[in-house]
Amino acid sequence: ELGEYRHYMQKEIHEQPRALADTLERVGNTIEPSLFGAEAPALFADINAVTIIACGTSYHAGLVAKYWLESLAGLPTSVEVASEYRYRDSVANPSALVVTISQSGETADTLAALKHAKALGHDKTLSICNVPESSLIRLSALRFLTHAGPEIGVASTKAFTTQLVALYLLTLALAKVRGRLSAEREADALADLKRLPGAVNALLALESGLEQWAEALATRQHALFLGRHTLFPIALEGALKLKEISYIHAEAYPAGELKHGPLALVDRDMPIIVCAPNDALFDKLASNMQEVRARNGELFVLSDAAVEAGPGQHVLALPAGMRDLNPLLYTIPLQLLAYHTAIRKGTDVDKPRNLAKSVTVE
Ligand code: F6R
Repeated sequence: ELGEYRHYMQKEIHEQPRALADTLERVGNTIEPSLFGAEAPALFADINAVTIIACGTSYHAGLVAKYWLESLAGLPTSVEVASEYRYRDSVANPSALVVTISQSGETADTLAALKHAKALGHDKTLSICNVPESSLIRLSALRFLTHAGPEIGVASTKAFTTQLVALYLLTLALAKVRGRLSAEREADALADLKRLPGAVNALLALESGLEQWAEALATRQHALFLGRHTLFPIALEGALKLKEISYIHAEAYPAGELKHGPLALVDRDMPIIVCAPNDALFDKLASNMQEVRARNGELFVLSDAAVEAGPGQHVLALPAGMRDLNPLLYTIPLQLLAYHTAIRKGTDVDKPRNLAKSVTVE
């Protein structure tokens, strides 16, 4: 069943172009809110905010969506860790759309958080899930199925990128219902989605470059991941992947936070992995990279901008990015980096110690 691959995680990383194409299969030449169910158009017209609830990697997908939803759909968005939301006193807004995200649809905290939201009076609920017969799907008014196919490796990969596509489609659908999506913007977004599987394929071809980075990382005790804007949650996801399968302690920060503490950790033994897309914040990020170099931190930069390699600065040149979908693209090299670092450390990549694929107990 593994075919040419050594592990399910590697196979699932490489299945992403197909998983993304399958998830996008029902999208035609226009964005239709009914992608989220027959009742979605009416329900979407009636909301004034979004609350996203999830755990782990699925929570990181929600953090990316906040940037999209506020910017494109103009909807105030909060993103909650399910185990926190279910046990805190929150202020219910019955006009909010409550979105739960889960690969398995069986995560105990996510299910309990959704039940909690419903008990508070939230009946506008949508779940984004990879398992059609799951408990989460049954509990929600609206649903969107990611078509990633079964994910066996404990570390989530193709489920995450298909969740991002689902959340981007949700953003576009809400923007459209709210009269905020110009025909031009809609056509641009659809064109980007169409070329997404091919773009992911091109990133998978960078595997050997990431094997070299993995060689350097595998001997370290710690790593720091940096990004800004939608790439900050991707830095969090890169750090989570690295720690869960290679057992290297990794942290992620929004690059602008460096000076507020984490810069104290930086010395010549600290590898710093940076997601540096060629976007409006590139110059800000470039000065954060200089701050790190000035303290002898070793930079590993993923970028589609012209960044020069030099002593203490490794650069992996990525193909040109996209307007909104960069977080999805930059995920691919970070998955490959974690995978190859774990291989070098000889860990059980598909079944990392102490972890279960589906967390059905609290
Ligand atoms: C990390 C990972 C976990 C899951 C989390 C939620 O690689 O897989 O963090 O994302 O346990 O699981 P689901 O999405 O099934 O609710």
